[in-house]
Amino acid sequence: MAPKGGRNRHRAVLLTALLLCAQDALAQARASGFVGEAKCLTCHEAKNRHFSATSHARAFRANPRNELEARVCEACHGPGSAHVANAADKSAPIRFTRESGTPIETMNARCLACHGGGQRQHWPDSAHARALLACSDCHAPMERRSSAGLLARPTINETCLACHAQQRAEFRRRSRMPVPEGKMSCADCHNPHGSTTRALLKGDSVNETCAECHAEKRGPFLWEHAPVREDCGTCHAPHGSNHESLLVAARPFLCQQCHNPPIGHPGQFYAGDRTAAVVAAGGAPSPRLVARSCQNCHSAIHGSNHPSGARFQR
Ligand code: HEC
Ligand code: HEC
Ligand code: HEC
Ligand code: HEC
Ligand code: HEC
Ligand code: HEC
Ligand code: HEC
Ligand code: HEC
Ligand code: HEC
Ligand code: HEC
Repeated sequence: MAPKGGRNRHRAVLLTALLLCAQDALAQARASGFVGEAKCLTCHEAKNRHFSATSHARAFRANPRNELEARVCEACHGPGSAHVANAADKSAPIRFTRESGTPIETMNARCLACHGGGQRQHWPDSAHARALLACSDCHAPMERRSSAGLLARPTINETCLACHAQQRAEFRRRSRMPVPEGKMSCADCHNPHGSTTRALLKGDSVNETCAECHAEKRGPFLWEHAPVREDCGTCHAPHGSNHESLLVAARPFLCQQCHNPPIGHPGQFYAGDRTAAVVAAGGAPSPRLVARSCQNCHSAIHGSNHPSGARFQR
């Protein structure tokens, strides 16, 4: 057993070593220009009040995963010593506003240092990266404005519609999915951070994206309808339509675009004097064309698994 004095001496040596270590770290931090968050707060307490409510503040302060996160403010804004010495010097720290003139790539690289990969795997080739969007165009990482995702606006849809005015109009049409009601969001179908598909779709194709919720339309079917296999967007406008069921055209015209003239029975609908042309001119339609039109008979338009479901009649 070591004598008492020896243990104290041990402790003193240890403490000195720790102190030297700490001084070393401090000196290193100074040399690299980091000043620590306490310093920032002496002047930016107001900003900190908002920041404290974010998942960033909680993660960086309560259990930082590494040295960078432990730097809190400087994890994003970079070393602050030059700024503390002269707050009017706009070159430091890194600013994230468009007015600041910081190159977008510089801003985004800060965020991607911690958030690269995962959902953002395809960010570099995405339409949004090419259009020079900043992460902070959609995110407010210092303020909790949305219930999740630290978004720039209270909801995903509002965040997207701030720029996409045309889609706002499309979602006002008569037939649409419940996006304006907030039951669905743009991010149910799109990954704003990039994807391998056109139009930043979440799925590997339009059909895979739709099948996420409309699985019964995925198939395969015993009797396939070729355009359904190919692309739901051939008949449906995903953001909305003034025709029923999000259709891109009214029936029977929708069907007649491809089945005119069909073999078997005329697509210019029969009953002689009651063709589509007559209807367009105000005449009475064939009774076979009212209601669901061609689907009065060809009801299983997405495909059929019925043994006698040929021509999608059941
Ligand atoms: C001595 C007071 C002081 C300290 C300490 C200080 N700042 Fe500042 N900071 C200011 C002032 C004043 C401005 C406004 C200057 C201006 O108009 O650009 C400012 C501006 C900023 C801006 C830019 C705002 C904009 O317009 O985009 C950021 C970012 C910032 N500070 C971050 C920090 C960080 C991070 C720290 C800690 C490393 C820090 N500040 C420490 C006084 C301070
Ligand atoms: C996760 C990254 C991140 C962290 C951590 C962070 N900031 Fe920011 N900061 C930003 C972004 C992005 C903006 C610009 C967009 C915004 O206002 O939300 C910004 C803006 C600012 C501004 C200018 C705000 C304005 O409206 O002019 C100041 C000042 C600032 N930050 C200080 C701080 C201080 C102080 C801390 C630490 C308490 C801190 N930041 C931590 C990313 C961060
Ligand atoms: C030093 C690493 C680091 C940097 C730099 C950083 N973040 Fe984060 N971010 C984190 C951590 C850690 C979390 C919390 C993760 C968690 O809660 O699972 C987080 C969470 C988030 C979230 C999700 C918030 C939520 O509540 O779901 C968003 C969005 C985000 N960060 C965006 C950004 C943006 C934009 C930037 C650049 C301005 C940025 N981050 C910079 C580490 C970082
Ligand atoms: C066009 C708008 C937009 C841009 C630009 C954008 N994001 Fe996002 N981000 C979102 C939306 C919307 C969500 C929420 C997605 C969800 O909940 O399904 C999100 C979620 C996140 C999350 C939390 C979920 C996760 O993946 O862990 C992080 C982190 C994040 N974004 C980081 C970033 C970074 C880093 C950048 C810049 C390279 C960026 N975002 C650019 C819209 C955007
Ligand atoms: C700051 C403005 C801005 C915000 C916010 C924004 N976008 Fe975009 N978006 C653009 C620009 C710019 C383009 C590329 C030019 C274009 O095609 O209009 C684009 C393109 C797109 C495209 C087409 C991609 C392609 O390959 O054709 C989709 C899909 C899209 N955005 C979805 C979203 C979603 C979803 C959100 C919300 C999470 C969102 N955007 C938020 C500006 C924005
Ligand atoms: C039900 C799925 C779905 C939802 C929800 C959705 N989109 Fe789309 N979006 C699509 C599909 C599918 C395309 C077309 C892809 C193709 O065929 O190239 C598309 C295309 C786009 C495009 C490219 C231009 C165009 O119109 O073809 C933009 C921009 C866009 N969407 C933005 C948005 C925004 C903003 C929201 C939310 C308000 C949203 N989308 C909601 C499925 C969806
Ligand atoms: C995140 C889930 C989700 C995804 C993904 C999705 N939908 Fe929907 N869809 C819905 C919901 C919810 C409704 C409304 C159902 C209701 O009102 O009973 C709906 C309704 C519809 C309707 C009927 C509209 C009407 O007016 O009767 C059509 C057609 C439709 N979706 C097509 C599509 C297509 C095409 C895609 C792919 C581009 C798609 N959906 C992707 C959830 C989704
Ligand atoms: C050949 C044109 C066509 C294609 C392609 C097509 N649909 Fe449809 N879809 C229709 C028609 C027509 C209706 C109206 C059905 C009715 O009134 O019975 C409809 C209705 C719907 C409905 C609402 C009614 C229901 O049956 O649930 C959903 C959801 C739907 N389609 C999803 C899809 C999906 C998902 C795809 C891609 C896999 C797709 N559609 C491809 C023509 C098409
Ligand atoms: C984008 C073009 C397109 C549209 C729109 C379309 N179809 Fe088709 N349809 C096809 C193709 C291609 C086939 C396969 C033809 C073949 O196998 O010879 C087919 C097959 C059929 C068949 C079965 C034919 C057979 O020989 O078994 C019926 C019935 C049919 N479609 C009805 C409709 C109806 C009703 C509509 C409207 C709701 C419609 N189609 C819309 C392209 C289309
Ligand atoms: C009154 C019921 C009925 C209506 C309405 C109807 N069809 Fe048909 N259709 C049939 C029957 C029955 C067959 C099978 C004929 C056969 O086997 O010779 C058929 C066959 C077809 C075929 C396959 C032809 C072939 O030779 O294989 C196509 C394509 C078709 N219909 C398209 C349409 C379109 C497009 C409409 C709307 C303009 C429509 N049908 C309306 C009953 C109908």
